[in-house]
Amino acid sequence: MQFEDLANKKVILRVDFNVAVEAGHVKETFKLAAAKETLDYLLARNCKVAMISHLGRPSSAKATAGEPDGKVDSAFSLKQVVADAEIILGRKIIFVSDCIGEKVSTALEGLGEEVLLLENVRFYAGDEKNDAEFARKMAENFDFFVNDAFSASHRDHASVTGLAKILPSAAGLRLQEEIAEMTIVKDHPIAPAVAIIGGAKIETKIPVIKFFEEKYDHILVGGKIANEAIEQKMIFSDKVVLPTDFVDGGLDIGPATLEKFKAIIAEAKTIVWNGPTGKFEDERYAVSSNEILAAAIDSQAFVLVGGGETLEILESNHAMDKVSFVSTGGGAMLDYLGGAEMPGIEVLRK
Ligand code: 3PG
Repeated sequence: MQFEDLANKKVILRVDFNVAVEAGHVKETFKLAAAKETLDYLLARNCKVAMISHLGRPSSAKATAGEPDGKVDSAFSLKQVVADAEIILGRKIIFVSDCIGEKVSTALEGLGEEVLLLENVRFYAGDEKNDAEFARKMAENFDFFVNDAFSASHRDHASVTGLAKILPSAAGLRLQEEIAEMTIVKDHPIAPAVAIIGGAKIETKIPVIKFFEEKYDHILVGGKIANEAIEQKMIFSDKVVLPTDFVDGGLDIGPATLEKFKAIIAEAKTIVWNGPTGKFEDERYAVSSNEILAAAIDSQAFVLVGGGETLEILESNHAMDKVSFVSTGGGAMLDYLGGAEMPGIEVLRK
Protein backbone atom coordinates (compact mmCIF):
# COMPACT_ATOMS: atom_id res chain seq x y z
CA MET A 1 0.00 0.00 0.00
CA GLN A 2 1.31 3.47 -0.90
CA PHE A 3 0.77 6.81 0.81
CA GLU A 4 -1.29 7.78 -2.26
CA ASP A 5 -3.73 4.85 -1.73
CA LEU A 6 -4.72 5.63 1.80
CA ALA A 7 -8.46 6.21 1.33
CA ASN A 8 -10.62 5.05 4.26
CA LYS A 9 -7.69 3.60 6.23
CA LYS A 10 -7.01 3.77 9.94
CA VAL A 11 -3.77 5.71 10.14
CA ILE A 12 -1.42 6.18 13.07
CA LEU A 13 0.40 9.46 12.39
CA ARG A 14 3.71 10.27 14.14
CA VAL A 15 3.87 14.00 14.66
CA ASP A 16 6.24 15.98 16.86
CA PHE A 17 4.25 17.97 19.39
CA ASN A 18 7.26 18.19 21.69
CA VAL A 19 6.79 21.87 22.43
CA ALA A 20 7.27 24.10 25.45
CA VAL A 21 4.00 24.51 27.35
CA GLU A 22 3.27 27.27 29.84
CA ALA A 23 0.01 27.81 31.73
CA GLY A 24 -1.90 25.48 29.42
CA HIS A 25 -0.65 27.05 26.20
CA VAL A 26 2.10 26.09 23.83
CA LYS A 27 4.87 28.67 23.65
CA GLU A 28 5.75 27.91 20.06
CA THR A 29 3.12 26.81 17.56
CA PHE A 30 5.31 26.01 14.56
CA LYS A 31 5.64 22.28 15.22
CA LEU A 32 1.87 21.94 15.59
CA ALA A 33 1.26 23.76 12.31
CA ALA A 34 3.80 21.50 10.59
CA ALA A 35 1.37 18.57 10.97
CA LYS A 36 -1.49 20.28 9.13
CA GLU A 37 -0.67 19.42 5.55
CA THR A 38 -0.49 15.67 6.08
CA LEU A 39 -3.45 15.67 8.42
CA ASP A 40 -5.61 17.52 5.86
CA TYR A 41 -4.43 15.12 3.16
CA LEU A 42 -5.44 12.05 5.19
CA LEU A 43 -8.78 13.47 6.31
CA ALA A 44 -9.64 14.46 2.74
CA ARG A 45 -9.30 10.74 1.98
CA ASN A 46 -11.69 9.72 4.76
CA CYS A 47 -8.95 8.23 6.91
CA LYS A 48 -9.43 7.76 10.63
CA VAL A 49 -6.37 9.39 12.11
CA ALA A 50 -4.70 9.04 15.51
CA MET A 51 -1.76 11.36 16.12
CA ILE A 52 1.06 10.16 18.38
CA SER A 53 3.94 12.15 19.80
CA HIS A 54 6.31 12.48 22.70
CA LEU A 55 6.41 15.54 24.96
CA GLY A 56 9.63 16.13 26.84
CA ARG A 57 11.52 13.40 28.62
CA PRO A 58 9.29 12.20 31.48
CA SER A 59 11.37 10.31 34.02
CA SER A 60 8.26 8.34 35.07
CA ALA A 61 8.70 6.21 31.95
CA LYS A 62 11.92 4.61 33.05
CA ALA A 63 10.42 1.70 35.00
CA THR A 64 9.35 -0.97 32.49
CA ALA A 65 9.41 -1.51 28.77
CA GLY A 66 5.91 -2.67 27.92
CA GLU A 67 3.65 -1.52 30.72
CA PRO A 68 2.74 1.89 32.12
CA ASP A 69 4.26 2.41 35.54
CA GLY A 70 1.22 4.28 36.79
CA LYS A 71 3.09 7.47 37.73
CA VAL A 72 1.98 9.58 34.81
CA ASP A 73 3.23 13.13 35.32
CA SER A 74 0.65 15.61 34.04
CA ALA A 75 3.42 18.13 33.27
CA PHE A 76 4.26 15.88 30.31
CA SER A 77 0.70 15.13 29.21
CA LEU A 78 -0.16 15.94 25.62
CA LYS A 79 -3.59 16.97 26.85
CA GLN A 80 -2.00 20.39 27.38
CA VAL A 81 -1.55 20.96 23.65
CA VAL A 82 -5.10 19.99 22.61
CA ALA A 83 -6.69 23.46 22.78
CA ASP A 84 -3.94 25.11 20.71
CA ALA A 85 -3.69 22.20 18.29
CA GLU A 86 -7.44 22.43 17.59
CA ILE A 87 -7.07 26.08 16.63
CA ILE A 88 -3.92 25.62 14.58
CA LEU A 89 -5.02 22.47 12.80
CA GLY A 90 -8.62 23.62 12.43
CA ARG A 91 -9.98 20.24 13.59
CA LYS A 92 -11.85 18.93 16.58
CA ILE A 93 -9.41 16.78 18.54
CA ILE A 94 -10.38 13.97 20.87
CA PHE A 95 -7.67 13.35 23.45
CA VAL A 96 -7.13 9.72 24.50
CA SER A 97 -5.36 9.28 27.82
CA ASP A 98 -3.32 6.31 26.62
CA CYS A 99 -1.47 5.42 23.45
CA ILE A 100 -2.20 1.68 23.50
CA GLY A 101 -5.04 -0.62 24.52
CA GLU A 102 -8.77 -0.41 24.94
CA LYS A 103 -9.04 3.36 25.29
CA VAL A 104 -7.52 3.73 21.83
CA SER A 105 -9.67 1.05 20.16
CA THR A 106 -12.87 2.44 21.71
CA ALA A 107 -12.05 6.00 20.64
CA LEU A 108 -11.23 4.82 17.14
CA GLU A 109 -14.49 2.90 16.78
CA GLY A 110 -16.59 5.92 17.70
CA LEU A 111 -14.58 8.37 15.62
CA GLY A 112 -16.45 10.70 13.25
CA GLU A 113 -14.95 13.83 11.68
CA GLU A 114 -12.59 14.36 14.61
CA VAL A 115 -8.94 13.42 15.00
CA LEU A 116 -7.47 11.52 17.93
CA LEU A 117 -4.46 12.69 19.86
CA LEU A 118 -3.03 9.87 21.94
CA GLU A 119 -1.17 10.38 25.22
CA ASN A 120 2.60 10.88 25.34
CA VAL A 121 4.32 7.73 24.03
CA ARG A 122 7.19 8.33 26.48
CA PHE A 123 4.94 7.48 29.42
CA TYR A 124 5.96 3.96 28.39
CA ALA A 125 9.63 3.08 28.63
CA GLY A 126 8.96 0.81 25.63
CA ASP A 127 9.06 3.79 23.31
CA GLU A 128 12.67 4.84 23.89
CA LYS A 129 13.72 1.19 24.31
CA ASN A 130 12.09 0.45 20.97
CA ASP A 131 10.34 -2.50 22.54
CA ALA A 132 8.74 -4.65 19.80
CA GLU A 133 5.79 -5.66 21.96
CA PHE A 134 5.04 -2.04 22.80
CA ALA A 135 5.20 -1.15 19.10
CA ARG A 136 2.85 -4.05 18.31
CA LYS A 137 0.36 -2.74 20.88
CA MET A 138 0.51 0.75 19.35
CA ALA A 139 0.03 -0.69 15.86
CA GLU A 140 -2.79 -3.12 16.59
CA ASN A 141 -5.72 -0.84 15.82
CA PHE A 142 -4.30 0.57 12.60
CA ASP A 143 -3.80 -0.22 8.88
CA PHE A 144 -0.99 2.22 8.11
CA PHE A 145 1.78 4.24 9.74
CA VAL A 146 2.77 7.72 8.54
CA ASN A 147 5.87 9.37 9.98
CA ASP A 148 5.63 13.13 9.59
CA ALA A 149 8.09 14.03 12.35
CA PHE A 150 11.44 14.94 10.81
CA SER A 151 12.50 16.40 14.15
CA ALA A 152 12.12 12.99 15.84
CA SER A 153 13.48 10.88 12.98
CA HIS A 154 16.98 10.73 14.48
CA ARG A 155 15.47 8.61 17.26
CA ASP A 156 15.35 4.82 16.96
CA HIS A 157 12.22 4.64 19.09
CA ALA A 158 9.11 2.46 18.86
CA SER A 159 6.88 5.33 17.75
CA VAL A 160 9.37 6.28 15.02
CA THR A 161 10.96 3.08 13.71
CA GLY A 162 9.17 0.27 15.59
CA LEU A 163 5.79 1.03 14.01
CA ALA A 164 7.34 1.20 10.53
CA LYS A 165 8.62 -2.34 10.94
CA ILE A 166 5.10 -3.62 11.67
CA LEU A 167 2.71 -1.60 9.51
CA PRO A 168 2.87 -0.55 5.86
CA SER A 169 4.40 2.91 6.18
CA ALA A 170 5.28 6.13 4.41
CA ALA A 171 6.79 9.54 4.99
CA GLY A 172 4.24 12.30 5.47
CA LEU A 173 4.21 15.44 3.32
CA ARG A 174 6.09 17.55 5.88
CA LEU A 175 8.78 14.92 6.32
CA GLN A 176 9.16 14.65 2.53
CA GLU A 177 9.50 18.42 2.30
CA GLU A 178 12.09 18.59 5.10
CA ILE A 179 14.20 15.90 3.41
CA ALA A 180 13.98 17.73 0.07
CA GLU A 181 15.05 21.08 1.56
CA MET A 182 17.82 19.52 3.66
CA THR A 183 19.11 17.71 0.59
CA ILE A 184 19.43 21.01 -1.27
CA VAL A 185 21.64 22.57 1.40
CA LYS A 186 23.49 19.33 2.07
CA ASP A 187 24.27 18.14 -1.43
CA HIS A 188 23.78 21.14 -3.74
CA PRO A 189 24.65 24.33 -1.86
CA ILE A 190 25.23 27.30 -4.15
CA ALA A 191 28.50 29.10 -3.37
CA PRO A 192 29.31 31.15 -1.46
CA ALA A 193 27.71 28.84 1.11
CA VAL A 194 27.74 29.97 4.73
CA ALA A 195 26.85 28.02 7.86
CA ILE A 196 26.13 29.82 11.11
CA ILE A 197 26.43 27.55 14.10
CA GLY A 198 25.74 28.67 17.66
CA GLY A 199 24.16 27.41 20.84
CA ALA A 200 25.82 25.21 23.44
CA LYS A 201 27.69 21.89 23.71
CA ILE A 202 30.51 22.05 21.21
CA GLU A 203 30.90 18.25 21.21
CA THR A 204 27.40 17.89 19.67
CA LYS A 205 28.23 20.44 16.96
CA ILE A 206 31.62 19.07 15.86
CA PRO A 207 30.26 16.58 13.26
CA VAL A 208 28.18 19.27 11.60
CA ILE A 209 31.09 21.78 11.61
CA LYS A 210 33.24 19.10 9.98
CA PHE A 211 30.58 18.48 7.34
CA PHE A 212 30.41 22.20 6.56
CA GLU A 213 34.20 22.46 6.43
CA GLU A 214 34.12 20.00 3.54
CA LYS A 215 31.23 21.50 1.60
CA TYR A 216 30.81 25.15 2.59
CA ASP A 217 32.91 28.28 2.13
CA HIS A 218 32.53 29.83 5.59
CA ILE A 219 31.42 28.50 8.97
CA LEU A 220 30.60 31.29 11.41
CA VAL A 221 30.71 30.04 14.99
CA GLY A 222 29.09 31.99 17.81
CA GLY A 223 27.24 31.36 21.07
CA LYS A 224 28.51 29.25 23.93
CA ILE A 225 30.19 26.81 21.55
CA ALA A 226 32.54 29.55 20.38
CA ASN A 227 33.72 30.07 23.95
CA GLU A 228 34.03 26.33 24.42
CA ALA A 229 36.04 25.89 21.21
CA ILE A 230 38.42 28.71 22.19
CA GLU A 231 38.82 27.44 25.76
CA GLN A 232 39.55 23.94 24.51
CA LYS A 233 42.02 25.35 21.93
CA MET A 234 40.27 23.49 19.13
CA ILE A 235 41.87 23.62 15.71
CA PHE A 236 39.74 24.19 12.62
CA SER A 237 40.45 24.97 8.98
CA ASP A 238 40.57 28.59 7.76
CA LYS A 239 36.93 28.33 6.74
CA VAL A 240 35.84 28.38 10.38
CA VAL A 241 35.50 31.91 11.73
CA LEU A 242 35.65 32.10 15.51
CA PRO A 243 34.88 35.36 17.35
CA THR A 244 37.75 37.72 18.06
CA ASP A 245 35.79 39.84 20.53
CA PHE A 246 32.93 39.25 22.95
CA VAL A 247 30.41 41.20 25.02
CA ASP A 248 30.49 40.79 28.82
CA GLY A 249 32.90 37.89 28.90
CA GLY A 250 31.26 35.77 26.20
CA LEU A 251 27.53 36.37 26.56
CA ASP A 252 27.37 37.66 22.98
CA ILE A 253 29.86 38.01 20.16
CA GLY A 254 31.47 41.43 20.00
CA PRO A 255 30.90 44.24 17.46
CA ALA A 256 34.03 43.53 15.37
CA THR A 257 33.10 39.85 14.98
CA LEU A 258 29.50 40.75 14.19
CA GLU A 259 30.59 43.11 11.41
CA LYS A 260 32.79 40.38 9.94
CA PHE A 261 29.93 37.84 10.10
CA LYS A 262 27.52 40.29 8.46
CA ALA A 263 29.94 41.04 5.62
CA ILE A 264 30.25 37.31 4.87
CA ILE A 265 26.48 36.81 5.11
CA ALA A 266 25.83 39.69 2.69
CA GLU A 267 27.73 37.84 -0.07
CA ALA A 268 26.19 34.41 0.58
CA LYS A 269 24.04 32.42 -1.83
CA THR A 270 23.28 29.63 0.65
CA ILE A 271 22.89 30.10 4.40
CA VAL A 272 22.19 27.41 6.99
CA TRP A 273 21.70 28.59 10.54
CA ASN A 274 21.32 26.54 13.72
CA GLY A 275 21.83 28.01 17.17
CA PRO A 276 21.85 31.56 18.62
CA THR A 277 25.15 33.44 18.57
CA GLY A 278 24.60 34.96 22.03
CA LYS A 279 22.57 34.42 25.22
CA PHE A 280 19.54 35.73 23.38
CA GLU A 281 17.01 35.16 26.21
CA ASP A 282 18.50 38.30 27.74
CA GLU A 283 17.84 41.04 25.21
CA ARG A 284 21.17 42.72 25.97
CA TYR A 285 22.84 39.68 24.41
CA ALA A 286 20.35 39.10 21.57
CA VAL A 287 21.99 41.81 19.45
CA SER A 288 24.13 39.56 17.28
CA SER A 289 21.40 36.94 16.73
CA ASN A 290 18.91 39.65 15.71
CA GLU A 291 21.38 41.39 13.40
CA ILE A 292 22.51 38.12 11.83
CA LEU A 293 18.88 37.31 11.09
CA ALA A 294 18.35 40.73 9.50
CA ALA A 295 21.50 40.30 7.39
CA ALA A 296 20.42 36.83 6.25
CA ILE A 297 16.98 38.14 5.26
CA ASP A 298 18.58 41.05 3.35
CA SER A 299 20.95 38.73 1.48
CA GLN A 300 20.18 37.04 -1.83
CA ALA A 301 20.78 33.63 -0.26
CA PHE A 302 18.60 30.57 0.14
CA VAL A 303 18.24 30.66 3.93
CA LEU A 304 17.44 27.51 5.91
CA VAL A 305 16.99 27.87 9.67
CA GLY A 306 16.46 25.21 12.33
CA GLY A 307 16.71 24.53 16.05
CA GLY A 308 14.24 25.46 18.77
CA GLU A 309 16.16 28.50 20.05
CA THR A 310 16.87 29.83 16.56
CA LEU A 311 13.14 29.59 15.86
CA GLU A 312 12.49 31.69 18.97
CA ILE A 313 14.72 34.38 17.44
CA LEU A 314 12.72 34.20 14.20
CA GLU A 315 9.44 34.42 16.10
CA SER A 316 10.51 37.35 18.25
CA ASN A 317 11.49 39.18 15.04
CA HIS A 318 8.23 38.14 13.28
CA ALA A 319 10.40 36.57 10.61
CA MET A 320 9.11 32.98 10.34
CA ASP A 321 7.99 33.62 6.77
CA LYS A 322 10.94 35.81 5.78
CA VAL A 323 13.46 33.00 5.33
CA SER A 324 13.41 30.33 2.62
CA PHE A 325 12.74 27.32 4.84
CA VAL A 326 12.30 26.74 8.56
CA SER A 327 13.06 23.22 9.71
CA THR A 328 11.25 21.63 12.65
CA GLY A 329 14.50 19.81 13.41
CA GLY A 330 16.94 20.82 16.10
CA GLY A 331 19.05 17.78 16.97
CA ALA A 332 17.63 16.00 13.92
CA MET A 333 18.85 18.76 11.59
CA LEU A 334 22.36 18.64 13.06
CA ASP A 335 22.43 14.85 12.83
CA TYR A 336 21.16 14.86 9.25
CA LEU A 337 23.67 17.45 8.06
CA GLY A 338 26.46 15.90 10.12
CA GLY A 339 25.97 12.63 8.25
CA ALA A 340 24.53 10.59 11.14
CA GLU A 341 22.06 7.88 10.28
CA MET A 342 18.42 8.91 10.54
CA PRO A 343 16.70 5.67 11.60
CA GLY A 344 13.19 7.08 11.16
CA ILE A 345 13.90 7.92 7.53
CA GLU A 346 16.01 4.84 6.72
CA VAL A 347 13.30 2.46 7.92
CA LEU A 348 10.81 3.96 5.46
CA ARG A 349 13.19 3.33 2.55
CA LYS A 350 13.32 -0.43 3.21
C1 3PG B 1 13.18 17.90 19.43
O1 3PG B 1 12.54 18.72 20.08
O2 3PG B 1 14.31 18.15 18.94
C2 3PG B 1 12.55 16.58 19.15
O3 3PG B 1 11.23 16.56 19.55
C3 3PG B 1 13.34 15.45 19.76
O4 3PG B 1 13.23 15.44 21.14
P1 3PG B 1 14.21 14.54 22.01
O5 3PG B 1 15.58 15.14 21.87
O6 3PG B 1 13.69 14.55 23.42
O7 3PG B 1 14.19 13.13 21.42
